[in-house]
Amino acid sequence: MFSRNDFRPKVSIVTGGASGIGLEIARELHRRGSHVVLADLDEVKAKSAADDLGARASAAQVDVSDAEAVRALVDSVVAEHGRLDVMVNNAGVAVGGLLEELDQRHWDKALDVNLRGVINGVMAAYPHLTRQGSGHILNTASLAGLIPAPAMLPYTTTKHAVVGLSTALRAEAASLGVKVSVLCPGFVDTPLLDEVYAAPDSFGGSSVRNRVRLLQPKFLTPELTAQRAVDGLASNKAVIPVGVFAHMTWRALRYLPPVARAVIQVQATGHRRLNERAARRS
Ligand SMILES: NC(=O)c1ccc[n+]([C@@H]2O[C@H](COP(=O)([O-])OP(=O)(O)OC[C@H]3O[C@@H](n4cnc5c(N)ncnc54)[C@H](O)[C@@H]3O)[C@@H](O)[C@H]2O)c1
Repeated sequence: MFSRNDFRPKVSIVTGGASGIGLEIARELHRRGSHVVLADLDEVKAKSAADDLGARASAAQVDVSDAEAVRALVDSVVAEHGRLDVMVNNAGVAVGGLLEELDQRHWDKALDVNLRGVINGVMAAYPHLTRQGSGHILNTASLAGLIPAPAMLPYTTTKHAVVGLSTALRAEAASLGVKVSVLCPGFVDTPLLDEVYAAPDSFGGSSVRNRVRLLQPKFLTPELTAQRAVDGLASNKAVIPVGVFAHMTWRALRYLPPVARAVIQVQATGHRRLNERAARRS
């Protein structure tokens, strides 16, 4: 009988592999015997993380929003190692704020990294995987890809798109021997929570921690998130929600939609109240 421990990929690429969830997924794949390529915008961090992992790990500098660069990276990994078993399209940025606080930059950033970055990874890896007739694509979305998550519309929009892309591609790819899964964690304790892109003034800085703590008081660890992600690959789950908050809200939206929508409405109103309070203080 197939056990989760039988999942032993030989060659994996993880984008956004220098930090947070991507780094821990890379560690978990490495632990299972895979050579891992940590591909990240931040070359120094990627190199240092790959050095920490030791043998069977390497680093590559890539901007996932650059389709040609992603294709060149994937082609070079396949040329060097002869195959690709797992492509993790994980690099992402946080974009937060109410719609009226956001401008074109916020939409462009989210679309370029969180959506085009995933599309570029999929388009680069897919020809190799279909040629092999094997392999697994894991795209990192978010709980914000499963539920309407207000006060971060560019983020929510791109993450919903990543869920749609992943679940539809899963259906197309199955008969070609290629598996596709999508990771949807709740809030995870990583630097992303402190690096909201061009955060609106109402945030009082670039961290979103205090605001999201009201929704999910205890953050997930990147280690647990990565373990769930790789277990999800091993058991070929289509959608991999992580954390009690993610499971509860996703299920509530499916089975008790009016209640879930009412809670989400309260969240949006709460965010606006926090802004009004911040405006009065300043
Ligand atoms: N932290 C959370 O609460 C949370 C929750 C759900 C989903 N996610 C998603 O998980 C993924 C990983 O986020 P994280 O929390 O580990 O954040 P993180 O900031 O720790 O890691 C993100 C990594 O992506 C890299 N990156 C950013 N832009 C890039 C680009 N253009 N090209 C290549 N690399 C780039 C960064 O350098 C960084 O190393 C993201 O897609 C994020 O949206 C995060």
